[in-house]
Amino acid sequence: MNSYSDAVRVGVAGATGYSGVELVRLLARHPRARLTAAMGSPGSEPRRVRALARVWDDPIAPLDIDALADGCDAVFLALPEQASAAVAPELLARGTRVFDLSGAFRLRDRETRRQWYPHTPDAGVTPVYGLTERYRTCLAKSQFVACAGCYPTAAILSLQPLVAADLVEQPIVIDAKSGVSGAGKTPTERTHFSECHGSLSAYGVFSHRHAAEIEQELDVPVTFVPHLLPIDRGILETIYATLRPGITEADIVDAYRRAYAGSPFVRLTGSELPEIKHVTHTNFCDIGWRVNESRRQLVVVACIDNLVKGAAGQAVQNFNVAFGFDEALGLN
Ligand SMILES: NC(=O)c1ccc[n+]([C@@H]2O[C@H](COP(=O)([O-])OP(=O)(O)OC[C@H]3O[C@@H](n4cnc5c(N)ncnc54)[C@H](OP(=O)(O)O)[C@@H]3O)[C@@H](O)[C@H]2O)c1
Repeated sequence: MNSYSDAVRVGVAGATGYSGVELVRLLARHPRARLTAAMGSPGSEPRRVRALARVWDDPIAPLDIDALADGCDAVFLALPEQASAAVAPELLARGTRVFDLSGAFRLRDRETRRQWYPHTPDAGVTPVYGLTERYRTCLAKSQFVACAGCYPTAAILSLQPLVAADLVEQPIVIDAKSGVSGAGKTPTERTHFSECHGSLSAYGVFSHRHAAEIEQELDVPVTFVPHLLPIDRGILETIYATLRPGITEADIVDAYRRAYAGSPFVRLTGSELPEIKHVTHTNFCDIGWRVNESRRQLVVVACIDNLVKGAAGQAVQNFNVAFGFDEALGLN
């Protein structure tokens, strides 16, 4: 139970959405946070969210930036990207610490950002890319965190240690599959139950924003193909790469072990390949691999829950590091 004596006052904007509900669940019982505001879209009727019964029974208020800035030390934005692009700079200008779950501020290169997120202004504060395992040091005391995207989280955690150690060469192919909650709560013709149930479809080939995010963090080109999987939540990525000449499975194992020795939420499963069911409702990213040394083939499989490690859990993990708490606080 939260004693509130020295708790950080936190607010959630977008608390009626899929990621926002997860944030409220995590923050309402976080030992060092006091949830002081949970808001929906501007002008929306105050309403209770059934999924939050006995977690947060106050009505979810319409978005009110003044109330967030005055009543919170830190605000989590679980908003559509254009809304985040407008709200984040206002909160930052008033000294609030912001954890943005949208993609609006993730891309550092101005031209690339303009291409994929044309509505994003200069925030006035440089954001830290919010993948805790990669940017722990930069996250400490940061005012603005652009939390990593769901697909990029699994892809970067899987590939970054291998690319950094120069163990793999191109082509690198990321075959990614996500449950339907990855698209948010409003159904479209593609995500509507009767359209996606019993099917599996590729989308966004060569046109998905997350490819730019993955390439930003890896600094190598990748072929990224997302698929819509007819389950409610979870991401599984199967990643194909070629080993550089002379690289063995021991090199792969060593790179992963070194990279994640101090990372409580990365579980290395070795040749036991991960499954979505093993990570749903958790903040874990499970990474397994198979190597064919004679053919220089590497296959990596990674799984996360898109709403936890891919969204709300990751944001709380970043919050913990930014405020100097134990990285896993409130997440186990
Ligand atoms: N879903 C995922 O797996 C996932 C993973 C990582 C990152 N993200 C990112 O997180 C953000 C939220 O995603 P989501 O899937 O949780 O979305 P969602 O389920 O569609 O929820 C959107 C939330 O934003 C509010 N909202 C809608 N339009 C708004 C506006 N113009 N101004 C302010 N608030 C507005 C909605 O309030 P009302 O209910 O009042 O309309 C709702 O609370 C997105 O940027 C998304 O890209 C999502």
